[in-house]
Amino acid sequence: MRPVIADLRASKIREVANAGIGRDDVLAFWFGESDEVTPAAIREAAAESLARGETFYAHNLGLLELREAIAGYAASLHPVVGVERIAVTSSGVNALMIAMQLLVGAGDEVVAVVPLWPNLTAQPAILGAEVTRVPLKAQAGAWRLDLQRVLDAVTSKTRVLLLNAPNNPTGWTLTRDEQQALLDHCRRTGTWIVADEVYERLYFEGPCAPSFLDIATAQDRLIVAHSFSKSFLMTGWRLGWLVVPPDLLDATGKLIEFNTSCAPVFVQRAGLAALAGADASVPKLVAHLRECRDTLLAGLQTVPGVQVQTPLGGMYAFFRVEGQDDSLAFAKRLVRDVGLGLAPGAAFGPEAEGWLRWCFASKDLQRLPAGVARLRGALGL
Ligand SMILES: Cc1ncc(COP(=O)(O)O)c(C=O)c1O
Repeated sequence: MRPVIADLRASKIREVANAGIGRDDVLAFWFGESDEVTPAAIREAAAESLARGETFYAHNLGLLELREAIAGYAASLHPVVGVERIAVTSSGVNALMIAMQLLVGAGDEVVAVVPLWPNLTAQPAILGAEVTRVPLKAQAGAWRLDLQRVLDAVTSKTRVLLLNAPNNPTGWTLTRDEQQALLDHCRRTGTWIVADEVYERLYFEGPCAPSFLDIATAQDRLIVAHSFSKSFLMTGWRLGWLVVPPDLLDATGKLIEFNTSCAPVFVQRAGLAALAGADASVPKLVAHLRECRDTLLAGLQTVPGVQVQTPLGGMYAFFRVEGQDDSLAFAKRLVRDVGLGLAPGAAFGPEAEGWLRWCFASKDLQRLPAGVARLRGALGL
């Protein structure tokens, strides 16, 4: 095995979740998904596709119908994104891996703004790239971009600047001015921007978070990764897409061939149904998530010693508890002693040590105060 593979760390979130295996009394908020099932219309579209016998390979880039629907959906949120820039992938994580395979190889430098969902930094590392971590600044519980630090880190030697905003785990979101400054800088250094915008719709300040697609041209060195998982409650379906410059589309199709060859047709049909219903379903989902967020935050803010800020996007509260500096040990203790399942900050990098991530996407709002009560119990309050 290549040493870089041997060195990959198993997920610390799984490590905590494994401590709760076999217990049905755990209130679990550790994984990045809602506990709500995919809407019926989406499931029915997949079932109908299977009933029609759509069980064969499809085009590498996805069904043209779906690519057109994605382009239409993107154009409803951003300036026009032509279908000649869209590739359907088998999940957001697969989209991101393909983006990395397109751009980086052994020895290339990737600058990543962290803390970050660990898959994003593992992918370039698997390909042999060197990942330089540039931390966000935590100020009174809120995470902010240290713009100058990123600008200093990205030089003409930097192949890729990797960003995820709205961010998992911190909820931090890029401002338009920050995006513009980063884009201008990367144009000067010739650096590619890989923007993970899978949470763009889970945004509480407007219909969509600021996107690089709003300010970049089709010719810019920009790849944007998307997913059906979060906005359409489709985590188990494994469907996503990439927006690439038009002259990278053929190469993207080649890489899809060698990774998965194509996304399953019945899953793509489900994706079409999801997009057809997006105007109604996404605002409803976000309204519910806002209630979840506000309910959880109201509870957490009453716990003495808890430091937390309201996230602007995503579906996570990221917080720390005074005196609890070992997040993995604390998260394991919460499971063991009070049946509360949270993700340890350390899972997202050393910058997030001492923090905990709480996924508030809960169908039943009451699970959230019940979880806060367990946290209080664990702290002897
Ligand atoms: C930041 C981020 N990017 C991408 C993904 C990938 O989502 P999926 O592979 O389910 O489409 C996730 C999932 O948790 C995520 O948090």
